[in-house]
Amino acid sequence: MANEKVLVLDFGGQYNQLIARRVRDLSVYAEIKPYSTSLEEIRSQGYKGIIFTGGPNSVYDESSPHYTSEILSLGVPVLGICYGSQLISYMLGGEVSACEKSEYGKINVRLVKESKLFKDVPKKSVVWMSHTDYISKAPDGFSVTAESDDCPCAAMENEQKKIYAVQFHPEVTHSEYGIKMLQNFLYEVCGCSGDWVMDDFIDRTVSKLKEKIGGKRVVLGLSGGVDSSVAAALLSRAVGNQLTCVFVDQGLMRKDEGDFVEKTFTSLFDMRFVRVNCGDEFLVKLKGVTDPEQKRKIIGTEFYNVFWNKIREEADGGFFAQGTIYPDRIESGKGDAATIKTHHNQVKMPDDIKFEGVIEPLGDLFKDEVRKVGEKLGIPHELVWRQPFPGPGLGVRILGEITKEKIKILQEADAVFRDEIKKSGEEGRLSQFFAVLPDVRTVGVMGDHRTYDHLIAIRAVTTDDFMTADWARIPYDVLARVSNRLTNEVEHVNRVVYDITSKPPGTVEWE
Ligand code: XMP
Repeated sequence: MANEKVLVLDFGGQYNQLIARRVRDLSVYAEIKPYSTSLEEIRSQGYKGIIFTGGPNSVYDESSPHYTSEILSLGVPVLGICYGSQLISYMLGGEVSACEKSEYGKINVRLVKESKLFKDVPKKSVVWMSHTDYISKAPDGFSVTAESDDCPCAAMENEQKKIYAVQFHPEVTHSEYGIKMLQNFLYEVCGCSGDWVMDDFIDRTVSKLKEKIGGKRVVLGLSGGVDSSVAAALLSRAVGNQLTCVFVDQGLMRKDEGDFVEKTFTSLFDMRFVRVNCGDEFLVKLKGVTDPEQKRKIIGTEFYNVFWNKIREEADGGFFAQGTIYPDRIESGKGDAATIKTHHNQVKMPDDIKFEGVIEPLGDLFKDEVRKVGEKLGIPHELVWRQPFPGPGLGVRILGEITKEKIKILQEADAVFRDEIKKSGEEGRLSQFFAVLPDVRTVGVMGDHRTYDHLIAIRAVTTDDFMTADWARIPYDVLARVSNRLTNEVEHVNRVVYDITSKPPGTVEWE
């Protein structure tokens, strides 16, 4: 971790992770903690600054999240955003009222007083607002520094006490100078030096891993996904052949993917690489099974059986490593603040497997930081920027019973589709794209012959978070080339359809 850090105190807003990511992009380490974190803990951490986040509540709601006003007397600079700004006003005896007219969207603000927070920000600019309450009277000792047509106090501050508050959201890109304002808070107000840079992270983490692991062994479950791949590369740099990566190939990966993962890690990094090929055993377990949930359950259960058996063999004391990343560990400021999100990266180990401890070398990083580290460590671009791939693999893209023949058809079709998308230059625009093999045969004609063969569906979506998604408007000529190649090159495919369903009501995957 860096020497200096900033706290993002979470009051339940939707942009909290974004605030932390923006701060880190400005080279200052930020961590998110729920509003239930004690003042003692905050005091003990030596933060250079504290940011109060937004939140959906009104400060006057009985159930709304509050904090002791002592936090404003620690001498640590504070920036309140949206709800956080109203909370500062409320805590210090200012007034908060309901807006006559809620402000939502892009709003013009005017700066009305010089402020360190607004250094190099023009007098008039656009910011992103989303609020129904507003600060109707700033607390004593505060001056208003910005206003909008409907918001007499769009920003206020007590420079002497280093307390700043903005009604708008500087972290959102729609706020034209928002990043500049955050930068000003970090560097002009908090006096940060900016020591969160990925090269330093790699050096520091490698030396910490060396110290912790000593001469012992480390076992890591490698899926071929971004997180576990980057964790493997970091551990390899730290302890080389003391690292064993266990890679379970259940036969449901994309075409040649298992070989690609093996080749990448055995040729580029020092480590022991253990590949378990268990595709045939999986197919035996899946024989005759058509129900989607049952298929998922069998694939999941079998995977972990094979995985833990291998880990058990390799354990030999030492450490167990996994690719947990920061968002998997953040405690939320919403609802029960004590619950930590569970996630597939953090899996429960059977009790009989004994390790000296668990190592999560990426536990402090956001996904974009993991990717930066991966690139710096020399992991191939296509692995670092790999699109999401579901745990059950092609198993959720083959409808009905899964057979060896169907896996082969789908792998070939998916490879053709991906190749065409890559060539078309559309790849960067798409969040995820793949082929699906519905259990459907249709009549076709090839030469003079009637065919009765498989239908391939192709799916491509755009999305920010995969909670909702839109089907991608791939140009017709690209679709035409894909269709042409699929029916000509992939045996047993005689028809192609394009999935034009958004999520909701559809899901991204078909099962
Ligand atoms: P759905 O189909 O739910 O998918 O709209 C949303 C995103 O999640 C991926 N996905 C999975 N990822 N294990 C995973 O690790 C799974 O079982 C799984 N199922 C779906 C899917 O590919 C999409 O990116």
